[in-house]
Amino acid sequence: MKQGRVLIFTLLFIAILAISRIAGLGNSLQAASSVGKDTLTMVTSPDYPPYEYYDTQGGERNIVGFDIDIANAIAQQLGFKLKVMESDFNGLIPALQGNRADFVMAGMTPTEQRKKNVDFSITYYEAKDTIVAPKGSNIKKPQDLSGKKVGVQLGTIQEQNAKKIAQKVAGIQLKQLNKVPEVIQEIKSQRIDAAIVEDTVAKGFAQANPELEFNIIPKQEVAGSAIAFPKSSPLVEPFNKVLQKLKDKGELEKLVTKWFSRSNTAGTSSTAAVPKGGFNLDFTRIIPDIPFILQGIPLTLLFTGLSVSLGLIWGTVLSLLKISGIKPLGWVANAYTSIFRGTPLLLQLALVYYATPQLTGYDISALQAGVFTFTLNSGAYMSETIRGGIQAVDKGQSEAAMSMGVSYWLMMWDIILPQALKNILPALVNETIGLLKDSALVSTVGVVEILRSAQIVGANKYIYFEPLLFAGLIYYVLVMGLTKSASVLERRLRLSE
Ligand code: ARG
Repeated sequence: MKQGRVLIFTLLFIAILAISRIAGLGNSLQAASSVGKDTLTMVTSPDYPPYEYYDTQGGERNIVGFDIDIANAIAQQLGFKLKVMESDFNGLIPALQGNRADFVMAGMTPTEQRKKNVDFSITYYEAKDTIVAPKGSNIKKPQDLSGKKVGVQLGTIQEQNAKKIAQKVAGIQLKQLNKVPEVIQEIKSQRIDAAIVEDTVAKGFAQANPELEFNIIPKQEVAGSAIAFPKSSPLVEPFNKVLQKLKDKGELEKLVTKWFSRSNTAGTSSTAAVPKGGFNLDFTRIIPDIPFILQGIPLTLLFTGLSVSLGLIWGTVLSLLKISGIKPLGWVANAYTSIFRGTPLLLQLALVYYATPQLTGYDISALQAGVFTFTLNSGAYMSETIRGGIQAVDKGQSEAAMSMGVSYWLMMWDIILPQALKNILPALVNETIGLLKDSALVSTVGVVEILRSAQIVGANKYIYFEPLLFAGLIYYVLVMGLTKSASVLERRLRLSE
């Protein structure tokens, strides 16, 4: 019985430890208030080599590229530290509007439409659009796109341009994706026929994938890249001054040469032509990135530990409400359980993450939203398990305790709950395993855990199968470890009876 209580305290302890960690960790896209501070927060969409992409070599998790170098130069000149955050491209302007960042650099073109929502700096680079297609497909000009499936990145001017072309050329079917590497991958998988991609970016991808080629679309306006700020940000002026200085001094030109005239960009180090068809696994290509993927483990474990412990506490409260005999309390707890068990976890997560800032004004981080949702959800499941566990404890025990004048709550805490917990240990282990695997869902709101790390590596290296298989292996090993230690714990508890 004592062991049962030790178990409760251990879980509580884990929860407290984890909460204190997460408070510091949960800073992804945290509110960036005005200027009186020493760090500027920039948000970018790191799917765009050589402008910005993840450098995952040797376990580093750095966003690097042309834009990052410029941002660093400006921040340094203005005496700020720089913090770089990530989001999908179509989430960048919302991030500025929600005051979650001070500025955006993402090879972003200052279009009229965007200018209605954000302010822009002067432009710092110019680019043209190209059509990317498999070699030999003969898709080179906009006219060739007739009747074809064409991929673009969601929310970009490439999407706009493709729509314009589709007004003149018949039968174009558009496919919008969140990230540029996904667009490229879709051509390679032959799910789409071609894509519209900016020249310098297209060049990098074509170099990494010799089966692809790109052709600049004739007769188009050049589109520039500029820095975006929240409307009437005081930073526009000082940024423009430094940017102009960098241009005048030729510093900008140096960066252009550094990033745009290299024959290699992200991931092309392995310059592997991805073989079409056949069963060709090559794990050696992800070896340098393994430390990067492994870094997702502590976060996944922390996340799971926290959700389980908090879920257990919340589930216990709910179960006590259910058996309290006070009808309205029971109803509330039952309704709660039925809602949380009756709707998809992924939907709950999206609701908590996207609706919280709007409803409460609190800028919840992705990690916090994840823990909160998982706690609410697993609490619902656990409440049923715990209720069953409590009710399975011999009735004679509570009657004996009552007749000796022990109070209800003391009896629960001292006698019933510890035994109930011991009984439901296998069910708790099941719940933990479930949560551990479901933690992969938080990758959808941008937490870089195991699955997300594997996807980043895949995107950088233009390979998908190997990193995902490796991530699967990690999950499997973790679950096995968990199962083993749970059975040891269970044996100990039984021996101590
Ligand atoms: N220049 C284009 C635009 O402004 C595309 C930029 C995409 N950038 C990125 N980091 N994915 O729409």
